[in-house]
Amino acid sequence: MSKKITFDYWKHLYSGRMEGMVSSEIRDLLSLSARPDIISFAGGLPEVRALNHQKLERYIKRTLRTDAEISLQYGNSTGYYPLRTRLIDVMALEGVSADEEDIIITAGGQQALDLLAKIFIDPGDTIITEAPSYTGALNAFKAYEANIIGIPIDKDGIIVSEVEKKLNKLSGEKTGVKFIYVVPSFSNPSGTTISLKRRKALLDLARKHNTIIIEDNPYGMLRYEGKAIPTIKELDSKGDNRNVIYVSTLSKLFAPGFRIGWIVAPHLILEKLTLGVQSAILCNSTFSQRIAYEYFSDPSWKNNITEFIKIYKNRRDTMFSALEENLSSIATWSKPKGGFFIWLKVPDFLNTKEILADAVRNKVAFVPGTGFYADGRGTDSARIAFCTESRENIEKGIKILAKIIKDKIRLYKSFK
Ligand SMILES: Cc1ncc(COP(=O)(O)O)c(C=O)c1O
Repeated sequence: MSKKITFDYWKHLYSGRMEGMVSSEIRDLLSLSARPDIISFAGGLPEVRALNHQKLERYIKRTLRTDAEISLQYGNSTGYYPLRTRLIDVMALEGVSADEEDIIITAGGQQALDLLAKIFIDPGDTIITEAPSYTGALNAFKAYEANIIGIPIDKDGIIVSEVEKKLNKLSGEKTGVKFIYVVPSFSNPSGTTISLKRRKALLDLARKHNTIIIEDNPYGMLRYEGKAIPTIKELDSKGDNRNVIYVSTLSKLFAPGFRIGWIVAPHLILEKLTLGVQSAILCNSTFSQRIAYEYFSDPSWKNNITEFIKIYKNRRDTMFSALEENLSSIATWSKPKGGFFIWLKVPDFLNTKEILADAVRNKVAFVPGTGFYADGRGTDSARIAFCTESRENIEKGIKILAKIIKDKIRLYKSFK
């Protein structure tokens, strides 16, 4: 192995934008959470063991036997056409109607966000997000030097009256707000869902101010209770159908290892996105897309969603009970009806970064709240993912976490 060089000789060569892309101490701590002896509430890792591996093996063998010439070759920059037809069926289950020509396939939802940032954001441009918001999105937007305005949320999602105030304030500026980014269903990180009333109000605002909503919806289909709420895209399609760009991914419905996401957008925007794909990677993995096509061509993929829902609902309920049992008079938490995440709030004199340091020492990991804000807020909050660990580990991990929190409160009070 080569010697690790610790002095950065090339500092003078990096672009200015790298200054906004620093590795955080949180990320460094969380790199430990991949260790097998750690109970991790940190990553939103789907339960890929629940997929039928024999079937996948069959799809891979069949593809190589019958379709190697296409599936091992470069593909179309907009994505493998037959898979796009399957994505239409997937979206239809959530009330989103689109046709093949409205879709571009990306390397996961993350590349979708990067491409959208690439085509819309000039340094200093203003965009609006929920606060807290998905770290990966914040990082993608920061990489293009966006000015990110985080609007607070409550139990019904983003507070639209606050969005309105900002839009009014910024409407005199050259480009106004480039876009509003939201994860409306079972948000990462808060687990919150934007109510129908607010979805409609947000869309009305976007129309009035001539801007775009980027609706990122990886979790909408993973609902454990209650009735589905129309996506903002569906609401938009009843009007001019031009103010919402819809982003989704197969990472949580299938497997993140295939790296397949997609964007539904008006054609002129898709043309720009296609140029973005060409300059970034020419085309996405044809082989991955081909296997995903096989998987979603077999109607049994829906049974797997039912299986995922059963697993995650059990884990969510276990975490709810463990939180209730161990932290009920001390902390508060969101009550997501789906998705992967619970947002935990501890007393505001505590700092969840310090709690994480102790937790990792005790072999438990989670993500401190500050990672989900562009401006340093969130010190009293944390994202805890219930999707990954077993019932036993959830119970054990929450007990450990609760003890650390209680010890810190005791220590704080002893100094007062
Ligand atoms: C809200 C949201 N958007 C996008 C992504 C990126 O997903 P991927 O790149 O795995 O498709 C994630 C992943 O956790 C997410 O939670």
